[in-house]
Amino acid sequence: MAEFRLPAHSRPVKGVTHAAPPGARALRTLRIYRFDPDGGGNPRLDTFQLDASSCGPMVLDALILIKAMVDSSLTFRRSCREGICGSCAMNINGVNCLACTTATRDLAAEIRIYPLPHLPVVKDLVPDLTNFYAQYASVKPWLQTRTPVSADRERLQSKEEQERIDRPAACILCACCSTACPSYWWNSERFLGPAALLAAYRWIIDSRDEATGERLDELEDPFRLYRCHTIMNCTDVCPKDLNPARAIAEIKKMLLERHS
Ligand code: SF4
Ligand code: SF4
Ligand code: FES
Repeated sequence: MAEFRLPAHSRPVKGVTHAAPPGARALRTLRIYRFDPDGGGNPRLDTFQLDASSCGPMVLDALILIKAMVDSSLTFRRSCREGICGSCAMNINGVNCLACTTATRDLAAEIRIYPLPHLPVVKDLVPDLTNFYAQYASVKPWLQTRTPVSADRERLQSKEEQERIDRPAACILCACCSTACPSYWWNSERFLGPAALLAAYRWIIDSRDEATGERLDELEDPFRLYRCHTIMNCTDVCPKDLNPARAIAEIKKMLLERHS
């Protein structure tokens, strides 16, 4: 029978409270999900009271301050701090987003931070993306050609052909979309999810690619593609303003046209 509540050992319990430093001028409270696989026990929600005037404006700045000044064991991914690498994706006040492009001033006084939902947790805010990356690799996200070109020539595209792939190619693989998709939550082993399907679409419509038929064959499957029920969460949360839901709809249309 389906279980609709978290198993007892996965429910977060009340954790430690770290009070604000004396004289704090801009008090913010962050409740942060903590899980240590080596420590055993339930995950917990730790409370950190910060002086927001002592760090930069983004949620990632607050996390970096906590790690540097309060609790060095707090674990999260980040790299670019500019919304480019996709590594700081997490769930902030119930919304999947990038911590480095989410301003604390735009959030309620209390900020709740969890890892991306419905993935195994490696530690604290770090989810296990093994399946997500394997699904991305499964769509063969590289140019496939059969027509040889001489070594001194490039495979050229017109401006219009490049513009078709410009937006889908801007995906940073942050996983905000797939982990916001209810269909992906329940079928993540078999449904490819919006990020991998957007990548598939990017190569299907690439004018230089010569494996379009095989790519569509691979997707024609009740689970890999058709578990998308056009709920649109994916497009709503994408921090790069991409539209995976429309890409999925376009793939479905191409498959339909193949059969008509
Ligand atoms: S549109 Fe499809 S992929 Fe996007 S959230 Fe909805 S079901 Fe998931
Ligand atoms: S489509 Fe958007 S939300 Fe999804 S992985 Fe790419 S950048 Fe992230
Ligand atoms: S740190 Fe690279 S996207 Fe946030």
